[in-house]
This record gives sequence, structure tokens and C-alpha cells, in this order.
Amino acid sequence: MRLGVLTGGGDCPGLNAAIRAVVRKSVHDHGAEVFGFADGWQGAMEGDVVELGPGMVRGILPRGGSILGSSGANPFYEGRMAEVHGTVRDLGLDGIVAIGGEGTLTAAAKLAADGVPVVGVPKTIDNDVRGTDHSIGFQTAVQVATEAIDRLHTTAETHDRLMLVEVMGRASGWIAVEAGIAGGADMILVPERPFDLDHVCTLLRRRHLRGHDFSIVVVAEGAAPAPNGFALPVYPIDERGFTRFGGIAHALAPEMAARTGWDTRVTVLGHVQRGGTPIAADRVLATVLGNAAVDLVAEGRFGTMAGMHSRDVVGVPLDEVAEGARGVPDELLAVAEVFYDV
Ligand code: F6P
Repeated sequence: MRLGVLTGGGDCPGLNAAIRAVVRKSVHDHGAEVFGFADGWQGAMEGDVVELGPGMVRGILPRGGSILGSSGANPFYEGRMAEVHGTVRDLGLDGIVAIGGEGTLTAAAKLAADGVPVVGVPKTIDNDVRGTDHSIGFQTAVQVATEAIDRLHTTAETHDRLMLVEVMGRASGWIAVEAGIAGGADMILVPERPFDLDHVCTLLRRRHLRGHDFSIVVVAEGAAPAPNGFALPVYPIDERGFTRFGGIAHALAPEMAARTGWDTRVTVLGHVQRGGTPIAADRVLATVLGNAAVDLVAEGRFGTMAGMHSRDVVGVPLDEVAEGARGVPDELLAVAEVFYDV
């Protein structure tokens, strides 16, 4: 077996664990030769590869980032699918394992439909890839955000402050909701539920009337207000045409301070949520899904993604991923809401 592997899109903790798993599993089961593409689909288009034997992946299991580099290059949108075909042909590849989020895996779906032998592995701290219940990197991001909220709690309590904590989450509020529940947030604002700022402040004021002197509000970067006069920041658009979020908490702070009269502070966690060593759960997930992806290649099940349904490993059609972001279910949001006003 000759195998290509790449990591595309934004990085996250656990990518190296997945690369290591693909190399070790394919060598173990098939005596494979493995080629790593530099910077995601960019390397696959340009034939920029490094040979990855077991020695090359030694010691990378706990390391953050990706030894291969990553980028948002997309052969489908760039009209460069023929170049990927060329690389597969030149290297004599039996398959490519693409480890990525929605953008990388949507490109994989298009390439598979065009005859490229590709399988996917889901990763994103946002946890919003469709077709799988778990994506590599998410649990670590939740852990980082929870630890931050714990620390903010003690200082908020000491100074009787309203603390706004902005976490990542462009189209879905998974990090906000899970870190918010784990950290005991008093309010969580997510993209799935446009919020009414007056109502939010009324609930917080009620909490203070009941004897609390501080509040912690977790806001996902992609949260959006219902139309009520509060203006979102104007987000820049990146070179690929995607909105670059960040800054909603800074926009909210003066508005909430004015409505409540409370001393208000902002913490934007940003890329700290994406960097550094993966927690054990992400190392295990990356290893399980890396193994499963090699099996999908060996079985010739191209155009699928190794995903998790509950605790079961499944092969999911990549087309499902292209259907858009997977939001937080109402049931989980309802669990979080129980703690807003008691
Ligand atoms: O999709 C993952 C993510 O971390 C988002 O939560 C965030 O909006 C985005 O990537 C930021 O990516 P970058 O700063 O690398 O463009």
C-alpha cells in the first residue's frame, strides 16, 4: 500500500496523534509507504511531500499543531483538482487520508466524486463537522476554556464583576456550551440562538437581585443578536472569502455595562484554545479515527469519512459533511439554561 496523508484548515490539538496513527497502522497492517503532504491540499496539488516512516512520527503523539503544516487551500474551489490527480498518479498512491474540518473534507468529497481515492478524518475545535459526534481537538479546547472560566470565577467573585469570556465557534456554539456548563457559566450566547440583549441583561440583573454579586457570560465568537439595536463588529473577510470572527465580547461589554451598571471585563481566549498538547481524550480519538481511516482505504471505501456515532466507529459518506455545520442540539442548550436564573 502507498498512502498519502494531509492536515487541512485550522490546526487543533491531536493532528499529530492522527498522523502517527495513520503511519503506524498502515505500516503494521500493510507494510505501507506513507507520504505526508505539506500544508494540506496545497502539498497534494504541488506534489510537495515528505516520506513518513515510523521514525518520522516518533514522539509526536502529545505534540500540538501538525508536523505537516496546514492551510485552507482547496483544489475544488481553486479549479486545481487535476493537479491532485497528477500527484496521486506520480506517487502511485492507493489512497489519501485527509484530516480536516468542513472545508478540507468538502474538497475531499468533490475529489472523491472525481475519482481521487480519498477518505476523511474529522478535526476541528468547533466540533461542527456533520456525520460524526466527535471531532479531534474539541475536547482539548473545552478543557482549556473551562480552566480559563474557573480562573475568571475567582477574580469575578472577588471584585463583584461581570466577566465576558469569548470562545471560538464560528457557526456553532459547542465550545461555549460545554465549557460553559463545565465552568458554571451564568449565561451562554451561541450562534444557534440569536439573543435579545435586553432579555439577557434582565436575567442577569435578576440573578444579582437574588444575592449574587458577579456573573460569568460565555459568548461564542459567532453569536449574533436578534434585531434589537445592538450592532455587531464589522468582521474582516479573509483572502478565501471567509469571515474572520473575533471581538463580539468587546462590542457587548459597554452595552451590558450600561444596561446593568456593573463593572465589566472581557477575556478573549482566541488561539490559545487551539494550541498545545491534546488531552488524553483527543489522543485516543485521533488514534482510533486514524486507524479507522486506514481500514477504509484498505477496504476501498473512498468518499467516506471515519466518524464516531456515540462510541462506535463508522464510515460516513463525505457528502454529508458538505451539508453545513452541525449545531448544538436543543436538549444540551436546555441543560445549560437551567443554570441561568437560579
Ligand atoms: O474553525 C476553527 C477555528 O478555530 C474557528 O473557531 C475560528 O473562527 C477559526 O478557526 C480561526 O481560524 P484562523 O485564525 O486560523 O483563520
